[in-house]
Parts: sequence; structure tokens; C-alpha cells
Amino acid sequence: IRVKYLAEVAEAADEPAIEAVRVAALGKKGEVSLMMRELGRMEPEARKAAGPALNALRDEIESAVKARRAALADGALAERLKAEWLDVTLDPRPAAAGTIHPVSQVTEEVVAIFAALGFTVAEGPQIETDWHNFDALNIPPEHPARQEMDTFYMARAEGDERAPHVLRTHTSPVQIRHMTANGVPCRAIAPGRVYRCDYDQTHTPMFHQVEGLCIDRNISMANLKWVLEEFCRSFFEVEGVELRFRASHFPFTEPSAEVDIRCSWAGGQLRIGEGDDWLEILGSGMVHPKVLAAANVDPEAWQGFAFGMGIDRIAMLKYGIPDLRAFFDSDLRWLRHYGFAA
Ligand code: PHE
Repeated sequence: IRVKYLAEVAEAADEPAIEAVRVAALGKKGEVSLMMRELGRMEPEARKAAGPALNALRDEIESAVKARRAALADGALAERLKAEWLDVTLDPRPAAAGTIHPVSQVTEEVVAIFAALGFTVAEGPQIETDWHNFDALNIPPEHPARQEMDTFYMARAEGDERAPHVLRTHTSPVQIRHMTANGVPCRAIAPGRVYRCDYDQTHTPMFHQVEGLCIDRNISMANLKWVLEEFCRSFFEVEGVELRFRASHFPFTEPSAEVDIRCSWAGGQLRIGEGDDWLEILGSGMVHPKVLAAANVDPEAWQGFAFGMGIDRIAMLKYGIPDLRAFFDSDLRWLRHYGFAA
């Protein structure tokens, strides 16, 4: 029976099987237990021989059961470890981090370049009085420029006494606010959102401009030209950048110039600073005496230049982006394509 039980223990595949073998041998009515009970009725001589042998047999089966139990438990643990195995050396999944919007990136670049030239940053409201947006900039109510601007007017209730407001159509009203608040001399840029009711590949109803304003005792167009060339050299990272000042007209500057940058469109690829094409990038001029006067600045004593540039527009040129509207679609694929998102 020793061989029988040891073999059964060794073959027991799980906990209930071991228990069954143990009960069969060592349980109250187990085969070994019954034999031990017989000892009492044996002759002393026979008992002397059988007693230790049975004890040894019981101990041997008991320790075999114990060992088998331990082995089964080890096996179960090993199984579990295998099933629940976790590779802690794997790279973590990439976390999707947000990135700065291209328009914000370009705005920061523009601010940094002009900061190096001594320009501070000025701000004004996006909901602007029509006086700041038009009248103070020498655009009286009957002026055709008011119609050309595709202005969004703020709705007014009947009998509203407040001044009429518009969504500012350009950053030029910040010229007025900045000079009125800080006086002159001054050197400032004013980046921000502007609004015009217009929508196609190169126009969105909201877009971004940066205004420039420099007023002192003897500022001239030459200073304007140098500042803009310096800016374009830095911004487009082109040493031999070439600008063309084309005579133009704005009510708030005299004389006025629109500025084009030399570029080429070879094979649908835009290159700044080479080629025989010109692309308009901004409007500029010498601040009109009436504008200075509207901001309580004496036009006899002070003069200077102003310019207004489309931020989205120069971003399109710098990064070769053909459609302005994509800037405001929040399409991650587009942002990734131009390297604006991870
Ligand atoms: N405000 C003009 C525009 O939006 C640009 C401009 C600004 C022109 C300053 C001259 C001087 O088109």
C-alpha cells in the first residue's frame, strides 16, 4: 500500500484529488488508520514490529501529500505569473500634448523681432467704437472705406444712447488708444484679432494683424523702410530680402505705401527673396496729421510711421500654406502636416 498511495499522491492533479488520496489513506476510515486501529488487538511481538512501520508509513504519506500540495501551489503561481506578465521595459504610450497654435507661434516670433528693435506691445479691444475704428483714423461716415471694409456692426437696441460699436476691422485703432494713453514719443506694435465679413481661400471673417507705430520728432519713411527690411530678414530668414514700396492710399497715412516682397512661384513652390514675382505683405505710411491730432498729439511737433501686416498672411508665406481657412479648422492632421503638432 505504500507504493500505491505514494503513486496516487504523485499523480494527483489538483487539490481535491490530493485530499481524496489523503482521506483514503489517513482519514478516520482510511486504510492506514484502520490498520493502526488493529494494532491494539495484536500480539505484543507483532505490534512491536508493525507499530513503527505503520507510523513511518503514515508520516511518509503525510509528507508526500504536503510536498505535492506545495508543488501544485507553485505551479499555480507560475501559471498566474505567466498569464499576468507585464513588461515594464516597454516604452510608455505617447501622451498627446497640446502645442501652440501656428498663429500664436508666429505672433510670438513677430513680437520678439520687434522687441529687439525697441518696440513694446500695445493692446486694444476687439469690440471697438466706430470712432476709434474709423473717425479718429480720418475715415468720416461718408467715406467709401467704410463700405469697402465689410464691417460687422454691433446690434443696437432702439434708443441705445451708447456710441455705436463695431468688431474692429483692423488694428489701426490701437494707434489712437496707445498715443492717447501713453503720449509720444512711442514705438509699439499691436498684434491681435480683426474682423471682416469675407470668406474665401485667402480670407476668413476673423484674422490677425500686427500694427506698428513709431512717433518721434524726426521719423521718416527711411526709418520705416529699414525697420520693415530688418523685420523681413529676421522673420523669413532670408539675408537678401527685397521689398518694393508701391504708392498707395490709406485715409490715416500720408504718404502711403503698400509693401511687396520679392518671391518666386517655381513649380508651385513659394520662395521668398528670389525670383521675379512680388507678393503684397502690408500697408504702411506716415501717420496722417489728423490722426495725430485725434490722439491729442501735436502734428507740428511730432511725426512718424505706421504699418499694418496680416499675421496669418506672413505665416502662410513662411510655411508655404495655400489656404488660410485651414488655420482655424483645428484639424490635427493639418497641424501635424505643417509640424505644428506632435
Ligand atoms: N489698417 C490697414 C489695413 O488694415 C493697414 C495699415 C496700417 C496701413 C497702418 C497703413 C498704416 O489694411
